[in-house]
Amino acid sequence: MAKSKSKTRWACNSCGATTNGWFGQCPSCREWNTIQEQTERPAAGERVVLAAPGAKSKPVPVTRAQADAAGESRLRTGISEFDRVLGGGLVPGSLVLLGGSPGIGKSTLLLQACAALVGEGEQGRSVLYASGEESVAQVAARAARLRGGEFRGGDERLLLVAETRIESILDHAATQRPDVLVVDSIQTVYSDAQDGLPGNISQIRSVTGHLLSWAKTSNVPVVIVGHVTKDGQLAGPRLLEHMVDAVLSFEGDEERATRMLRASKNRFGSTAELGVFEMTGLGLREVQNPSEAFLADHPEQAIGSAVTASLEGSRPLLLEVQALLGPSPGGYPRRTCVGADPNRLAMLLAVLDRHADLFVVDQDVFVNVAGGLRLSEPAADLAVLLAVASSHLRKPIPKGTVIIGEVGLTGELRRVPRMDERLAEATRLGFTRAIVCGRGRKADKPAKPARARLELIEVETVVQAVEATFE
Ligand code: TYD
Ligand code: MG
Repeated sequence: MAKSKSKTRWACNSCGATTNGWFGQCPSCREWNTIQEQTERPAAGERVVLAAPGAKSKPVPVTRAQADAAGESRLRTGISEFDRVLGGGLVPGSLVLLGGSPGIGKSTLLLQACAALVGEGEQGRSVLYASGEESVAQVAARAARLRGGEFRGGDERLLLVAETRIESILDHAATQRPDVLVVDSIQTVYSDAQDGLPGNISQIRSVTGHLLSWAKTSNVPVVIVGHVTKDGQLAGPRLLEHMVDAVLSFEGDEERATRMLRASKNRFGSTAELGVFEMTGLGLREVQNPSEAFLADHPEQAIGSAVTASLEGSRPLLLEVQALLGPSPGGYPRRTCVGADPNRLAMLLAVLDRHADLFVVDQDVFVNVAGGLRLSEPAADLAVLLAVASSHLRKPIPKGTVIIGEVGLTGELRRVPRMDERLAEATRLGFTRAIVCGRGRKADKPAKPARARLELIEVETVVQAVEATFE
């Protein structure tokens, strides 16, 4: 019999690309210092299995496959912000990756979701939480604290295991048959079938393969936690992205308590949804009304401040954009953006210069989106532009004004989708005027009810917008 031989190969820790030898920079993802030597045994038992053992792999017509899937019901975790980002709950048999930097609150979010899943009464689900980072006592103490009390009797459905060997975790899962399996975190778990330390690229790939096979064959959702590090020392979840069904990222910064949950990939839902949480002394609190929270510190009538209504998935969100202009001492004006795209800002400055006769190109420009949010839509263009104009002209934007519109290169404004929902949110929060684009088809215009409650100022170009705002 041929002896199984170890062979050496080189792979990128960040994207998983394999190379013939060592390189300083990965030829595929261009990250530096990520190529590492991988010793791998021939891949025995490393294949991903997508059907239960014994089930024949035979082609099925889509109608029957559909009928089988129709019986599938999503598992709601009871944390509505989490469920919404997932697309309505956990899909049976799906593999979900929750990524984020260390300490952001991934374990806290999942423990809260688990506590909600096991619930109080008889109908609760069972969860197996495998922790490779904390001891059972630590996780248990935290789970009980987050729940506001101790776990008693009926809570035997939340099972904790401190284990880092994937084979043991899956043995426990096979015996306990939980409704959900959580593995925290993928970087600490290893497989016997692979050489190398946990967190190594071949280990991560192997462990994820095991979990994927288990999820698909047992039809139980599996949630894995992945740390994202800035220097890319650990194999980043980027490699995992193509293996899992959904990639959620938990974001936020250390100075603020606001945490945002987004999906960058989701086979079972939209990637546009945003879940907003606040980290408190008692764990994460859902922020159901993010606009109110983000506008809480919004100074009215401040120079350089503008409010826009942005769509985050199914929900409109009011955001404050702040701009500050100052003389540039060096001749190389600086553009500093927090939450906005610097390239988009450069374009807006050029438009202001050329089409609105506001010479701002030689100034240092700082743009900040309040509350740690990111502007993801061109619909926020006009608000950024008017915030810059406000700082330049040293005139505030009138009180109670919301600004919505996309800016084109010729200085024209463009309509944005779902205007009624944006205006409704602005009205709900007490805004009284809206500066919007007046061009376009009649069908796209805001409906009557929105017009009745808001003074709608329809403009067609950047010049008209600046005149209407600062008249
Ligand atoms: P954690 O969930 O352990 O982060 P991760 O799993 O992403 O590494 O959260 C750690 C941080 O959250 C910690 O720095 C303290 C903070 N935190 C609170 O502020 N309140 C709480 O109730 C909990 C549990 C954590
Ligand atoms: Mg953790």
